[in-house]
Amino acid sequence: MEVFTSVASLRNFLEQQTFQQRSIGLVPTMGALHDGHISLIQLCKRENDIAVCSIFVNPTQFNNPEDLQKYPRTLEADCAMLEAAGCDIVFAPSVEEMYPKQPVLKFNFGALETVMEGASRPGHFNGVGIVVSKLFNIVKPHRAYFGQKDLQQVAIVKKLVSDLSFGLELIIAPTIREEDGLAMSSRNRRLNVEEREIAPHLFQILESAKRKLLKGESVEEVIRQATAAFDSIEAFKLDYFEIADLNTLQPITTPGATGTNAICVAAFLGPVRLIDNIVF
Ligand code: PAJ
Repeated sequence: MEVFTSVASLRNFLEQQTFQQRSIGLVPTMGALHDGHISLIQLCKRENDIAVCSIFVNPTQFNNPEDLQKYPRTLEADCAMLEAAGCDIVFAPSVEEMYPKQPVLKFNFGALETVMEGASRPGHFNGVGIVVSKLFNIVKPHRAYFGQKDLQQVAIVKKLVSDLSFGLELIIAPTIREEDGLAMSSRNRRLNVEEREIAPHLFQILESAKRKLLKGESVEEVIRQATAAFDSIEAFKLDYFEIADLNTLQPITTPGATGTNAICVAAFLGPVRLIDNIVF
């Protein structure tokens, strides 16, 4: 496995690989890797000759300076995990390397970014759009891998690829969970022991909402009960609990009426903001 920190040398290397007809897969990450990320790397390695993992804590997608500052940075451990998973190339640029100048370009993803994460984290998806576009232009992958864990990010990246004609295939992989159901996340390591014990309730409340919707309970009632469940656990501060159409991410009133639905949640547990979703 080789680690690149410069855009020019990575480009040079990958252009030679493409010239030799090797296929390139890209897994963009912000590091602090866990088995969720590794599942994407393994999938990428199975489907491509060269698996590239980018590790870059992208400042333009953080709207909360404390979250950016506290974001775990564990490059050495990340590289050991990547090597064991069969990753070929790590791209770990500095902020100056990725952003020699502050980008002025602004994305507008329309209704996709006015809900959930977009509403709660102004500017977040603009930053994701910019960094993902830059990574696609630098790496020029044949395939790029994203996790369903960040459902709205998937919708944004799909839009980016289609609106800007990036010639690549997007592959979306399922959410990997701890044994108790908690979705793996780099932010989980900031939870203290008590918070970590409470955290799986997030997934349990999602599952219970799904069961009730499938039994025919109304969207309104299910949201009311889920909100009450969060209120009953003092450590949680609910940000949103939404039942939405999978493609438009707009709230629905009748389950199934527009096709596949998703239940999406964001909640603070102590200082850490956790998100999760299930599709049904
Ligand atoms: P990050 O949070 O590091 O996640 C990198 C990729 O791993 C994303 O596609 C995310 O959805 C996926 N992922 C995270 N947790 C997962 C889990 N438990 N199971 C499966 N996949 C999981 O998402 C980002 O970074 C950034 O926004 C990025 C796309 C890199 C742009 O900066």
